[in-house]
Amino acid sequence: MTATAPRPADAGDPSFTELVAARPHLALHAQDGLTMDEVPLAAIADAVGTPCFVYSAATIRRRYAALAGALERAGLDARIHYAVKANDHLAVLALIAREGGGADVVSVGELARAVEGGIPPARIVYSGVGKTEAELGEALARGVGQINVESAEELDMIAALAAAGGWRARVALRVNPDVDAGTHPKITTGLAENKFGIPYAEAGALYAHAARLPGIEPVGVAVHIGSQITAMAPFRAAYGRIAELVRGLRGAGLPVERVDCGGGLGITYRDEIAPAPEALAGVLERTLGGLGLRLIVEPGRWLVAPAGVLLASVVLVKAAAPRRFVVLDAGMNDLLRPALYDAWHGIVPLAAADAVAPVSPAEVVGPVCESADVFARARGLPVLAPGARVAILDAGAYGAVMSSTYNARPPAAQVMVEGTRWHVIRPRPPLAALWRDEIVPPFLTGGTGRG
Ligand code: LLP
Repeated sequence: MTATAPRPADAGDPSFTELVAARPHLALHAQDGLTMDEVPLAAIADAVGTPCFVYSAATIRRRYAALAGALERAGLDARIHYAVKANDHLAVLALIAREGGGADVVSVGELARAVEGGIPPARIVYSGVGKTEAELGEALARGVGQINVESAEELDMIAALAAAGGWRARVALRVNPDVDAGTHPKITTGLAENKFGIPYAEAGALYAHAARLPGIEPVGVAVHIGSQITAMAPFRAAYGRIAELVRGLRGAGLPVERVDCGGGLGITYRDEIAPAPEALAGVLERTLGGLGLRLIVEPGRWLVAPAGVLLASVVLVKAAAPRRFVVLDAGMNDLLRPALYDAWHGIVPLAAADAVAPVSPAEVVGPVCESADVFARARGLPVLAPGARVAILDAGAYGAVMSSTYNARPPAAQVMVEGTRWHVIRPRPPLAALWRDEIVPPFLTGGTGRG
């Protein structure tokens, strides 16, 4: 690879003021600097240290209500099943449960978490491409509301378990509509080349087969084409194909009561024009609206991503002319999205003085020993002294859940803000917690144990 000259700060990037103005729960105050709801983020960083995720409860609630309202105003019988994978913290799940939401889970771990957070099993949809027999057995025993079947092979597994346990499994067939979601290739799921779902052409025959199986009650069809989708055309195409399938199934005398429409609604990280929930509701209404169906939507990112920030401190600024490396105490182990998907996240200083100072290009990096540990390249930032703090925006989804302890870095603390109050919802564990469950075998410690 040839070394490239540093790029100038990208003139197309939104300014700090624009980033903050687009996020109603954030504000820049002359005294307090960057605030979330009524709380100065510097106060949280002072008390809890960095790196630290901070979530706005009101923002999740407001977004939930906005989506629910849009679906209702479109005249749809739709239920929101929050995709737990986006942020599986119990406090987030408890908040969703109190709003009346259901959950979409992809493992028994997520199933148990959702129940622990207060979401009843009947309001849980179990999705996922590789559910084990043990997991399916547990889902049936707990009485989950719906299992989304990803293959003919899985349908047989569920039928056998249901017969053995005397259960009746409500299943939806997840169909792969072969529609390009137009998003990052690593988060596209609805193309024939992706591992997800039953090929569209085979869905009708498999549905009819499912209806004949004892212990199986086919309730509908599910589709999910990808994530961070910012255009409506892929949704329109996918739901149009599903509507056609539903008509075909009903024409063959098969009962179809629900369509699970998946998640995927995108947000504005940088300057993408993200669709409002009304746009999604409109597409659902036009494609599936007239069919008397119960609809399920499974948003993850849209509900929680904008509600969260990752606070980090500047460890040092390495001048490597012509580059300037701003080294943070948060790394790719805390927020993997930039390293994994080249994702763009806003980075805003916490101090008011830093937020109004002139900017010049900086490479914003973490401390992890990987060249991919880069949060931003050629990002316009002011001169930042060691100890200065920044907020990495839109880290409420696929942040903490995808973090690791690589380089023996303990998980970041997590905080939830509610109005003027804030609570630590996960303290940063002590270092010794990292190896608490590890066992050094006796043959290394002079013991006589076997193995
Ligand atoms: N339903 C199913 C079946 C899914 O596979 C997903 C996400 C969702 C719902 C929720 O999608 P959302 O509304 O959040 O777009 N780690 C990646 C995103 C992976 C999404 C995987 N499936 C990222 O950080 O961009």
